[in-house]
Amino acid sequence: MLSVQENKRLTEVGPGTPAGELFRRYWHPISPTLELEENPTKEIRILSEDLVLYKNRSGGYGLIDRLCAHRRVNLAYGIPEENGLRCMYHGWMYDETGQCIEQPFEETVRPESRFKDKIKLNGYPVQEFGGLLWAYMGPLPAPELPKWEPMVWEHAARDIAVALLPCNWLQCQENSLDPIHLEWLHATYGEYEQARRGEGNGLFAIPPAKVMKHEKIGFDVFDNGIIKRRVLEGRTEESDDWKIGHPILFPNILFVGDEMMGALQFRVPIDEEHTYHVSYYTWRAAPGHKAAKQSRVPYRYTPLFEDNGRFVVDFTFNQDYMSWMSQGPRNDRSQEKLGESDKGIILYRKLLREQIEIVDDGGDPMNVFRDPADAECIELPLENVKFSDGTLFAEYRPPEAGDSDAEEEIKVVLNTWSLYQKQEATAGVR
Ligand code: FES
Ligand SMILES: [Fe+2]
Repeated sequence: MLSVQENKRLTEVGPGTPAGELFRRYWHPISPTLELEENPTKEIRILSEDLVLYKNRSGGYGLIDRLCAHRRVNLAYGIPEENGLRCMYHGWMYDETGQCIEQPFEETVRPESRFKDKIKLNGYPVQEFGGLLWAYMGPLPAPELPKWEPMVWEHAARDIAVALLPCNWLQCQENSLDPIHLEWLHATYGEYEQARRGEGNGLFAIPPAKVMKHEKIGFDVFDNGIIKRRVLEGRTEESDDWKIGHPILFPNILFVGDEMMGALQFRVPIDEEHTYHVSYYTWRAAPGHKAAKQSRVPYRYTPLFEDNGRFVVDFTFNQDYMSWMSQGPRNDRSQEKLGESDKGIILYRKLLREQIEIVDDGGDPMNVFRDPADAECIELPLENVKFSDGTLFAEYRPPEAGDSDAEEEIKVVLNTWSLYQKQEATAGVR
């Protein structure tokens, strides 16, 4: 349980708020790169700030205040030029730092005027990496952009799913410190829904029968966050689920998957009551196999609701989204009753408070990288074999709703695992 005040402290993300300042020490994914190819301007709300992201005609990106300094129209309707974004209303132009660099009528009637020098919007650095555009909204110099291991795996097919969730980021993140929900939400509830509908549609990404009762859960703080471990009924501490586990990456990322696929989930706060959730899937080829490099990383927006207004629940990650959204826009933690299953959540909140204090004292919190060599390829723990006896299910099961344009590429990669399995069987390994 948290006091009302503490709940507010950990969930507010605007400028000057404690958690808002923590979040302003990190790079955040704010858009698939491909989306700006389709339309070079995009309204962005992130960390409670209203901005516009644009691609200029030289191929550079800018992220600046959304409203023009002149008479405050929306610059998402502006015109990208070689070196900036021009307001469509009276032609003022801004560069990527937010500096006004042209005022056509002012310059016509008063060529000596330096009025434009005094006009500056907020502007934040943007980088492209891995099919995503990333923003940094904190004090300069900006740290290095961390390249988490799956983002640099070779011979892989990547796929991005974005979910716009009407709830606070902490609800999403606390879910990742809660192993027990796997057994209930993804297995028991999944089976109940399938039976209730009588469809047997087979869409659930985790075959429910594979998931067993939890006997033990454990959590360890490590360099990049917290590793989550579990012992399932019939397994031992020798299983990958316990011995290796998988991590949450501080402050707002989950890394989950197995030897065939790694999913990074970024829970980017839009504001106190909304989250920009990016699932970044990397399906990698089996050992000794290759995959062609993708020419682009496709993206899609994940459907959250059925036509009848109920949540989509027939995919594993949609079941998670449903639970987080059902807690309301901002979970009132002064009313919760935590038990034994919540010790990971308690540990995470402690870490969050400690790291907020580090920022308060002027330091760099966990996962801020200053040396490029440290951020180049950050290796992470991940179970090879998950919940099972090692049998591979090398078929495409969409982890969340929505059709992927990468499906064919993913299937080619998955096929390498079928071949690999046959080779291993022939060699008597599996
Ligand atoms: S409102 Fe943007 S130039 Fe006038
Ligand atoms: Fe889950």
